[in-house]
Amino acid sequence: MPDYRPLYHVAPPTGWLNDPNGLVCRDGEYHLFYQWCPDVNVDGMRMYWGHAVSRDLARWEHLPVALEPDALGSIWSGCAVDDARNTSGFFGAGGGLVAIFTHHAEFGAERQSLAFSADRGRTWTKHAGNPVLGDDESRNFRDPKVFWHAETSRWIMVVGVDHKLYASENLRDWTFLSAPEFSSECPDLFPLEVEGRGEPKWLLSLGGFRYVAGDFDGVRFSPLSGPHLADHGPDFYATQSWEAAPGGRRIWIGWLNHWRYARAIPEFGARGVMSIPRELALRATTDQGLRLIQRPVRELESLRRETVAPSGAEASSGKRFYSGDAYELEATLVVDDEFDRCGFRLRASKTQETLVGYDGPAGGVFLDRERSGGTVTRGRYGLVGRGKRIPLRVFVDRGSVEAFFDHGLRVFSAQIFPDAGSLDLAWFSESGKCRAEDVKVHRLG
Ligand code: FRU
Repeated sequence: MPDYRPLYHVAPPTGWLNDPNGLVCRDGEYHLFYQWCPDVNVDGMRMYWGHAVSRDLARWEHLPVALEPDALGSIWSGCAVDDARNTSGFFGAGGGLVAIFTHHAEFGAERQSLAFSADRGRTWTKHAGNPVLGDDESRNFRDPKVFWHAETSRWIMVVGVDHKLYASENLRDWTFLSAPEFSSECPDLFPLEVEGRGEPKWLLSLGGFRYVAGDFDGVRFSPLSGPHLADHGPDFYATQSWEAAPGGRRIWIGWLNHWRYARAIPEFGARGVMSIPRELALRATTDQGLRLIQRPVRELESLRRETVAPSGAEASSGKRFYSGDAYELEATLVVDDEFDRCGFRLRASKTQETLVGYDGPAGGVFLDRERSGGTVTRGRYGLVGRGKRIPLRVFVDRGSVEAFFDHGLRVFSAQIFPDAGSLDLAWFSESGKCRAEDVKVHRLG
């Protein structure tokens, strides 16, 4: 079995990983907690919060498990905030981190609870008054995401599965506000800059799977545009964005997987990986309203090692121009709607390939992992968006591909499980009339 442990994506040292949790910045660190189970075959009643930290979103340090199951249940998804003003009363001056998560009880109840840390997230104490929201009858009431709403000076929580909004002044007592008419696990709600305009709009994320752009007045969310697909690939779920990221940036990360086959994919001494972190913006489009833009965070450029830059003619020859399993590919696709399918063959050999490209007549960009290797992960995705010169960036790691077309307007995330020897990178054009320009490949280490 090839070694699918990623070289630059976050994966747990051992055990099982699903949703990102508790994404928050404090003291120059990005915290990434995640749903973790000691058993690679996951057992939903023994979910913990695993923990990793980074100063640059590119290199991660693994820390001991942060939260363990207890008498109230298993620790399911949730978030964390920097309670710098000590609104919760858990801390002294300077405040600390508060985690707000779902306690999933064996008898089915889902209630929201708190834990706090005054030592940079290294050790956690569960609140003696848990749970703080929900009762024995609460079902499908999980995945709280909390943020500070400066305009009304209070904390706001959005919680799934049928979305509900609550407000609190101290993170302990919550008042119901309203119920946006959407439903998903792991909702998220945050303001986002509209490119070229001063004023932000709000993005309601439906589990990272879809999103709605709109307005939020501190009580109610009013949709303006959507739901749109956030990612056109199969493997991007339970997305969460960092609270309190420096410079007002909004960055999110997702679980690079799908529940349909998550338990059946190959393991690497662990099972489950995160996506790369992506910086978000909104773009006002003429035909489709407000659209989400996702760009790989610029910090990932620090992972670049050697660069190969073939000429357009060389890259478009159809011959292999690179060999590897962990790299970033940059290119411009020069295409036409009259021409047939074209694009890049990644992780290719005589019998395997993953295609990332453009199909003019069929109607847009696509990702095809039908022959990528692996039995449970197969399929073709996309056919969205027109163009003549289509910029593309692709991040390949041992078991994954993330393709960003049109500067992050159309994104595809997919797991692939090729043989260790399927390493070729080459261009293909069925009509012979399409080509690639501005090609660069950076090995990522
Ligand atoms: C989403 C999810 C969440 C839940 C968690 C349990 O993937 O089902 O709704 O909190 O996983 O691990």
